[in-house]
Amino acid sequence: MSAVLSCEGLCVGYQRTTVARDISVSVDKGEILAVLGPNGAGKTTLLLALAGFLRPTAGRIAVDGSDVTGSSARRMNRAGVVLVPDNRALFTNLPTLDNIRIASRKGGATVSEVLDLFPQLRDRTKVRAGMLSGGEQQMLAVARALVQGPRALLIDEMSMGLAPIIVEQLMPLLRNIADEVGAAIILVEQHVHLALEIADSAMVLVHGAVSLSGKAAELRGDPAALEAAYLGTALAGPADGEETETAGSATTS
Ligand SMILES: Nc1ncnc2c1ncn2[C@@H]1O[C@H](COP(=O)(O)OP(=O)(O)O)[C@@H](O)[C@H]1O
Ligand SMILES: [Mg+2]
Repeated sequence: MSAVLSCEGLCVGYQRTTVARDISVSVDKGEILAVLGPNGAGKTTLLLALAGFLRPTAGRIAVDGSDVTGSSARRMNRAGVVLVPDNRALFTNLPTLDNIRIASRKGGATVSEVLDLFPQLRDRTKVRAGMLSGGEQQMLAVARALVQGPRALLIDEMSMGLAPIIVEQLMPLLRNIADEVGAAIILVEQHVHLALEIADSAMVLVHGAVSLSGKAAELRGDPAALEAAYLGTALAGPADGEETETAGSATTS
């Protein structure tokens, strides 16, 4: 069986700068891949490439084993690759329900189905998205993705700006989506340990290259290897003018 979404030897960047190099990932139906790594590692760039917003300079992207390299974001979206960007991209002046309805597409989850997945949003359907709590806004962002009928869901730093306790509550909801909806999920996350609890597999990206990958359970059980993977940045030394990150900032919580 082919992976829902995969890439091989992917290189991508901006103008002449290559930001992510030789990345290979693969996610199956119902599987969650956690993409970890310090700020500036290239995680968002990788998701943008997989979603068709950036054109790779090398490598291949496939959906269900069919080559889709170089496809536009629109085509990738039609193929079922849906990005939940880190800014959540909500219509903050519109009610929650309208936010969901606007995104709805034939073949996607119904409004009632997504409200079953996020019962907390049920009482909030008439509230403007901008008035929701951060956690609710994130639920809404994922709900908007689900009504598009995603086969692969790319979620960028869902926890940005949220208290760890809220992130703790959101993570199992993603596991539920993978299990119940059967979406393949690539989750970029700073809360390493929370992400590894719900993920099936994981990789650490450092300076645009994969420094560690494996089964989430194995990585969870080997904090030293994880820390070393993050620390790789500091040990390798930053390129001119770049900031350094250490394990401490990313492996907490
Ligand atoms: N639009 C852009 N133009 C040029 N460089 C960018 C752009 N966006 C990000 N970068 C650079 O690409 C690198 C990776 O960024 P990003 O993918 O956002 O990392 P992460 O999501 O892991 O924090 C960083 O060095 C960042 O400065
Ligand atoms: Mg990012």
